[in-house]
Amino acid sequence: MGKKLSVSNLLGIKYLSEKDINLIFETSDNFKEVINRKIKKVPSLRDITIANLFFENSTRTKISFELAQKRLSADIVNFSSSGSSIKKGETLADTVNNILSMKVDMVVMRHPSPGASVFLSNNVNSCIINAGDGCHEHPTQALLDAFTLRERFGSLDNKKILITGDILHSRVALSNIFIYKKLGAEVKVCGPKSLIPKYINDLNITYEPNFDKGLKWCDVASMLRIQNERMKDSYFPTTREYAVQYGLDLNRLNSVDKEIIITHPGPINRGVELNSDVIDSGKTVILDQVENGVAVRMAVMYLLAAKL
Ligand code: NCD
Repeated sequence: MGKKLSVSNLLGIKYLSEKDINLIFETSDNFKEVINRKIKKVPSLRDITIANLFFENSTRTKISFELAQKRLSADIVNFSSSGSSIKKGETLADTVNNILSMKVDMVVMRHPSPGASVFLSNNVNSCIINAGDGCHEHPTQALLDAFTLRERFGSLDNKKILITGDILHSRVALSNIFIYKKLGAEVKVCGPKSLIPKYINDLNITYEPNFDKGLKWCDVASMLRIQNERMKDSYFPTTREYAVQYGLDLNRLNSVDKEIIITHPGPINRGVELNSDVIDSGKTVILDQVENGVAVRMAVMYLLAAKL
């Protein structure tokens, strides 16, 4: 019998053990090999039906999940909240229960409310995968980020990772902090103080206000986007000022006398957190992250299907 995950849903990295994460990585290694073959499709999820429910905008994550499902031969249905009965006042649990009664086995959901996938898993009888819930967690993004770094380093143990940007509103930040800590890395967060959440101290990580100092310290610079769509107030004077203090350009990168791996989950705001000269320099692993996303999501759905 193959190894199994300790969980039946993927709601957040918080709920995964190090063993679970490593099992997902080993399975992703196999699927990465599969998607680089001439024939990229395997019949592993032939009898499984998956609903992709996107209540919030997405490009990469949606396409990546859909491709992963197609490579695994699953049947899929796609739903996006625009044009749906949500606008008519239907509750989330009712919407999903109606979809499930059409014999759907697994739900991939992106939702603007933090905790939406945990709520759903308590209220419907199906396997739920969180594809991003507001500013809370984005577990598959963290898994693909850590998988990409594992490819580069072999292990994340004792690696120094600097996460810079809008930590307060980013679900990628929280999921990344959890996964990097679970895998033995040291994490610091960086950015304007107004964008650093208070809970950071409870997570046993340090705040580095000075980006240049942080760069000198780290092995990996994880750059995050300012989540303008989630901001109700103004958190820093101007975008220009933010870019001067916390934006990464080639000059700044070259002034650090060591090799740093640069990650970004996308979408990038060129000229704000990352300058085009860095993006186009070949010093980032952004496209590896995107490629690995398909393999990692195949692994997650394959392992969760084994728990159905
Ligand atoms: C991230 C997201 O949606 O949280 N993007 C993604 O999933 N690839 C990061 C972001 O929007 O900045």
